[in-house]
Amino acid sequence: MNAPSLEIVNAAGHLRVIVTKPLPGTHWLEVLAAAGCRVEIATGDDMLTREAISGLIGERCDAVIGQLTESWDAGLFAVLKQAGGRAYSNYAVGYNNVDVAAATACGIPVGNTPGVLTETTAEIAVALTFAASRRIVEADRFMRSGRFHGWLPSLFLGSLFHGKTVGVIGAGRIGEAYARMMVEGHKMNLLYFDLRPNPHLEEFVQAYGAFLAARGEPAVTCRRTETVADLLESADVVSLHTALDAATRHLVNAERLAVMKPDAILVNTSRGPVVDEAALVAHCRTHPDFRAGLDVFENEPAIAAGLADLANVVIVPHIASATKWTREGMASLAACNVAAMLHHHPVAAAGDVRPFLSGTPPQAAPSIVNARDLGLAHTTGAAGGCGASGCGCLPC
Ligand code: DGY
Repeated sequence: MNAPSLEIVNAAGHLRVIVTKPLPGTHWLEVLAAAGCRVEIATGDDMLTREAISGLIGERCDAVIGQLTESWDAGLFAVLKQAGGRAYSNYAVGYNNVDVAAATACGIPVGNTPGVLTETTAEIAVALTFAASRRIVEADRFMRSGRFHGWLPSLFLGSLFHGKTVGVIGAGRIGEAYARMMVEGHKMNLLYFDLRPNPHLEEFVQAYGAFLAARGEPAVTCRRTETVADLLESADVVSLHTALDAATRHLVNAERLAVMKPDAILVNTSRGPVVDEAALVAHCRTHPDFRAGLDVFENEPAIAAGLADLANVVIVPHIASATKWTREGMASLAACNVAAMLHHHPVAAAGDVRPFLSGTPPQAAPSIVNARDLGLAHTTGAAGGCGASGCGCLPC
């Protein structure tokens, strides 16, 4: 692969920041320019190899904003450290592509972008739920191929969710937003599985249930299950919102698919390897009423053999966070992480990231996942991201 071409912004800046893909919006560039950064952006859509990234870092580089498609391992952090690098931010909330321990060992803070993907990702999980259950893609193909010859009583029968049960695995910010959309919008009962209880979510469902009961409607309910299997057995829709780590890899495998209802819906907007994709293909083949809506894949950008042939699966190319507001917000957060770390500013306390998204941002990093391990100072209160390992939820 040839060296990627570069676009340079604020060439006179004294701090060299490499950005491995063009990012949407301009606020992030204003943030970096105001912080004295010369920004070098690799242009083009090719996924960069680690050699290409090492080449871009070169002999001197103060910080990098990288992508979830890149493997930020110990070797790459050593290259960055050697070049004088003092900060890295992922342009993503998830950071399973980053060896955080290796970055910490090099003394390099790792940023991520929580807080701007919550509703956007939850909305696409809802969209996939209904696209799968109401067979939208199949029906669209049917129309386009000229096969619609008039209304029929049994054409594209799907499932009704109103009053049924939704199961959410990983009840962090995104899981909670999805749960609320499904409970409130479709009066579904909620089951959730998470290592930690989510009292905020439970209170919401309880209060909404009381509101419905007061109006003479059936109250919605909420239960945190002890096991994943308990949730899978009972839910009509299951949506995955967990981080990817050793404990969640293939969390949904052949054995667990087998306990799900034969006409259940499985939605995945978290990380592909949380589902054993070959097992899912086999399950969907033998259970034509089972449906899946997938935004993420086990070996992106490849998809499992046979997946594309299945009518009962809806697939989209990892676009859950793809709204202009969110992607521009992610760019602002990544830039603020890097700018703050290069200027020895503290890590922000509050979870509200809006002050970082426009104008002059606070002199703090919105979210540094290894802040605690690096002993970085915080503004008052807790860190913007939880910084805990194994917390089980994607948005931290
Ligand atoms: C993330 O941020 O982790 C998403 O997968 C991409 O926006």
